[in-house]
Amino acid sequence: MDLVDEEHRGLFARFEALAKGIHEKAAESDLEELVRFLSEYASTHFEDEEKLMWMAGYPRLPEHRLIHEEMRLHIARMVGATGAGSDDVLSRALDFLTMWLIEHIHTEDQAMARYVKSQLQEQPLPRD
Ligand SMILES: [Fe+2]
Repeated sequence: MDLVDEEHRGLFARFEALAKGIHEKAAESDLEELVRFLSEYASTHFEDEEKLMWMAGYPRLPEHRLIHEEMRLHIARMVGATGAGSDDVLSRALDFLTMWLIEHIHTEDQAMARYVKSQLQEQPLPRD
């Protein structure tokens, strides 16, 4: 589960970079770049978690995948809010996603990690 922990740190680093960009009133194009960067990273991370759950035969994979889907929708909305010139909307969306992610990591991801660890030896994820 080192990969998942590392990716969670990577996600928070991108959340922080975006929060800093908003706070420092970065150029719209820079904010768009930061949001795109975050969105792509989150997408890869969710796919990696889903692959791990699938490999381990995690029984709650469908529910966990639905939660990720909800998060993907929120991130897509955040992407949509970027460039609309409203840093306030972007900032609120980012706050919401940050809180949401913290909660998710402490609940569903921990439960998933315990199960996956018990079922799988550490092994590299197959990349497409
Ligand atoms: Fe997750």
